Amino acid sequence: MFPSLILGFLVAGIAAVTATSSSSCIGTISSLNDVSSAIKCTTVNINAFTVPAGQTFELQLLDGTTVNVLGEIQFGNVSWAGPLFQVRGNDITFNGNNQRWDGGGPFYWDGRGTGGGMTKPHPMMAISISGTLNDVYVVNSPAHAFSIGNPGPLTVSGVTVDDSQGNYPNSRSGKSSAAEKHTTPTAFDVGGSNLIIKNCTVLNQDDCLAIGRGTNITFTDNYCEGGHGVSIGSISSNVIVSDIEISGNNVVSSAYSFRIKTDTSATNSAVKNVTYIANTATNCTYYGVLVTQSYPSNMGTPGNGVTISDINFSSGTTSLTANSGAYRVAVNCGSGSCIGNWDWSGLEASGGKAGSIINNNVITGFTQY
Ligand SMILES: *[C@@H]1O[C@H](CO)[C@@H](O)[C@H](O)[C@H]1NC(C)=O
Ligand SMILES: *[C@@H]1O[C@H](CO)[C@@H](O)[C@H](O)[C@H]1NC(C)=O
Ligand SMILES: *[C@@H]1O[C@H](CO)[C@@H](O)[C@H](O)[C@H]1NC(C)=O
Ligand SMILES: *[C@@H]1O[C@H](CO)[C@@H](O)[C@H](O)[C@H]1NC(C)=O
Ligand SMILES: *[C@@H]1O[C@H](CO)[C@@H](O)[C@H](O)[C@H]1NC(C)=O
Ligand SMILES: *[C@@H]1O[C@H](CO)[C@@H](O)[C@H](O)[C@H]1NC(C)=O
Repeated sequence: MFPSLILGFLVAGIAAVTATSSSSCIGTISSLNDVSSAIKCTTVNINAFTVPAGQTFELQLLDGTTVNVLGEIQFGNVSWAGPLFQVRGNDITFNGNNQRWDGGGPFYWDGRGTGGGMTKPHPMMAISISGTLNDVYVVNSPAHAFSIGNPGPLTVSGVTVDDSQGNYPNSRSGKSSAAEKHTTPTAFDVGGSNLIIKNCTVLNQDDCLAIGRGTNITFTDNYCEGGHGVSIGSISSNVIVSDIEISGNNVVSSAYSFRIKTDTSATNSAVKNVTYIANTATNCTYYGVLVTQSYPSNMGTPGNGVTISDINFSSGTTSLTANSGAYRVAVNCGSGSCIGNWDWSGLEASGGKAGSIINNNVITGFTQY
């Protein structure tokens, strides 16, 4: 009898502990040691701290968790594969509060993107959540900044990627006066569906957005400066990209502004239903619009194993200004692989010079190549 009374108290005690440690708690992270207990709560606050070199700051969150970033996150510098940060979960509200995430870029940058002599941790921010990701402020990513593979609908907004320091030469790049050209690869690498990216700012040296696969993706009201603009691709074999809206973006001083690039050797893939609405591009320095099926070459011998269909610049004028020496618009399709309706009546291009149009007789409403 006595033992069972003790047992009764024990059971009651365990029940009480379970109740107070239920997921409605607030977890606080001030070092990697705090992560495993903090992620048992559906509110997770992140204070300023430095992630030790060579380790991933990894959050596997409970469904419905709200994350609040409350201080600057830094990462120790070492050559390794990364990622630096990884977050997973469903129905997450991730509030970055414009606190900086500093990837230590100048430690890695050698002007050669993900190539060069040193393994650079990338992506810096691996995002595998549904829900919302707001106001995350990334500076100096070692290589790719964000990789997004969302498991459900996700809206990314107010995010900044500031790799503008990579525009300047440094001691590793071996260049003393010319500006760096390929310091940081893609800012947003996208491989998920049902995704909205809006009101983001990217200052870098390569693609602002690169959609490698996915359907129902909207890229709207973003600002891209200094890089390779808004891209679909590069498209490899056996992937589909469809139902894409690129609207209200401002692409400034970029080598390319709007590009669709499919690998020369790719097969069994499709890019379909892409609509460009009311974008602005100024000071395009190489190609304003480029659709190419000879990637990585711009105007090489194109492949035709990927079909590109229904590419519209129709409603809402997209205007682009090429600087002298740059091509306004060029299209390099494989034989029979650019098909459907391509209504380009809403594209206005000025400045620069005309590009070539190869194997495409489906564009209507546009003549200012
Ligand atoms: C990593 O190196 C960069 C460039 O030198 C520097 O700005 C940053 O503070 C370093 N990070 C840490 C945590 O020391
Ligand atoms: C856009 O994002 C910036 C940076 O986070 C924020 O300050 C601003 O309020 C946002 N604007 C809108 C219209 O959401
Ligand atoms: C497209 O994606 C948005 C944003 O995630 C989502 O709200 C919407 O339901 C999706 N539309 C379809 C048809 O799935
Ligand atoms: C094309 O994509 C848009 C989203 O950008 C979508 O609203 C529309 O339904 C799609 N059209 C077709 C024919 O699938
Ligand atoms: C045009 O873009 C190039 C490359 O980003 C840049 O160096 C140059 O300063 C820009 N010119 C103007 C007038 O903005
Ligand atoms: C593109 O424009 C053509 C011609 O106006 C139209 O038939 C087609 O539905 C449009 N496609 C999209 C995806 O808006």
